[in-house]
Amino acid sequence: MPTMPLNSDQLPAGRILVVSNRGPHDFVWRDEQWTATRAAGGLVSMIEPLARRPDVSWYCCVSEPPDAVEARDSIYTLATDQIDPELGVVPIPVPARVYRQYYGVISNEVLWMLQHHLVGQFGYQYLDERRHRAWFEGYLEANRRIADAIIVAHEPIRALLIQDYHLYPLPQLLRPHFPRTPILHFTHIPFPDPPTLRLIPRAWRQVILEGLLGADVVGMQTQSDVRNFRLACEEFLGAVVDGARSNVLAADGRWVRVRVFPASTDPAALQEIMQSAEVREAAARLRRDASVMTVVRVDRVDPSKNQIIGFMAYERLLELRPELVGRVQFRAFLIPSRTDMSVYREYHEAVNGVIDRINQRFGRNDTTGRAAVEVFYTNNREQALAALADCDILLANSREDGMNLVVKEWAVVSQRPGVVIVSETAGVAAETGNDALLISPLDVEGTARAMAAALDMPNAERAVRLQRIRSGVLDWTAERWLSAQLTELLPGENMVSSGTDRRRIAIE
Ligand code: G6P
Repeated sequence: MPTMPLNSDQLPAGRILVVSNRGPHDFVWRDEQWTATRAAGGLVSMIEPLARRPDVSWYCCVSEPPDAVEARDSIYTLATDQIDPELGVVPIPVPARVYRQYYGVISNEVLWMLQHHLVGQFGYQYLDERRHRAWFEGYLEANRRIADAIIVAHEPIRALLIQDYHLYPLPQLLRPHFPRTPILHFTHIPFPDPPTLRLIPRAWRQVILEGLLGADVVGMQTQSDVRNFRLACEEFLGAVVDGARSNVLAADGRWVRVRVFPASTDPAALQEIMQSAEVREAAARLRRDASVMTVVRVDRVDPSKNQIIGFMAYERLLELRPELVGRVQFRAFLIPSRTDMSVYREYHEAVNGVIDRINQRFGRNDTTGRAAVEVFYTNNREQALAALADCDILLANSREDGMNLVVKEWAVVSQRPGVVIVSETAGVAAETGNDALLISPLDVEGTARAMAAALDMPNAERAVRLQRIRSGVLDWTAERWLSAQLTELLPGENMVSSGTDRRRIAIE
């Protein structure tokens, strides 16, 4: 699919609005303090290229307390933090109290957990009065405020691209005000099946499904997400579904197209960043003894990433194969995330507990002085890429994952060549197939054995598997992900950005 940057004088009238909770900037923990910088996360890295176009506005949510000091404590960005000279960002202020309920309590504590099947410890445990209140006073209220901000903006709008689980009600709220404007909603995380959706109240799932059906196109990461959404519409709304065309009939008589757009990465940007001095310096810092093999993981500290079971599997590997102690090292690049939420803090502590236990049991390598598990709590992308390029194993054992772009980034940059271990419950597994070593996310023993098999795998076989995954990624890039959505929404137009920020890689 050819894509071409457009000049402003070629652009059709009206703006394309991207709407997401997260704007381009976030606070990251760097050099022992919180600093506002480009946000991590798959969503931002994928939206940014589109937001560079002169006819695109990026509406995002910010928390606006009366007192800015309060915002620093809760590490939510303010409108001023989001302004970016290269991007047409329009921050939508939401009062701090509403924001916390919408983002923290409902989007992250309930929807994120449910959609990753995290029910119970480190997940969604129960719906109490606080969460019921947060649904009305936070989630629905924030969505209404976002809708109002777009309605009163009085911009001529050519299309609306709404992102993710924070904004399910938004298409329906906007529809009456923009009856003929094409609206797309894309969900970046897994969409649950009807039995899972039954774990939230009937009225809530109705808002979610009817909200999405306000769009013309409902975009999902995988076929299985699409199937789940169609089934849920049929079962909970009694909607007519045309399975062959993958369309759902909305209550107002519109056919809504439900489509797959698998998220991807930007190989050209990655290849360029790999040439940078920062990556060279990081590679030198990370240089390992030639006899030491490495297992690497790069992810936000999030229960959905399933770090605890990944480390337990590594511990089991060292028990199974004692001759590997000192000859293999785990390098974990863990990015602190959603640290204002107690469930994330407790999870982080539990992750640290497992790491400490392994390091006490297996100690440091006598020659290199490196710990059995070495942790890097920084959002240093160049360093993570340098490690990905040189690892024997990339472990991506998420409990569940919309896609997992780190696997795709690894496929572009891996030199060693490495082997990737992927959960069958990650969207990317549908693309790697058996060229990855597929594991079940709760299976500690199976994951340990997959690690052993990967370490034993001859280079020739590693290279063949890597090459097949790599060609898939080179074929379906982030640019094509965007183009496919725009083409579906605005047939006849085929366009993406001019240039990408070459310093970015995504961490979902
Ligand atoms: C995933 C979600 C995004 C989210 C990102 C980071 O990629 O799909 O919507 O922005 O994680 O999470 P955060 O809560 O920090 O925005």
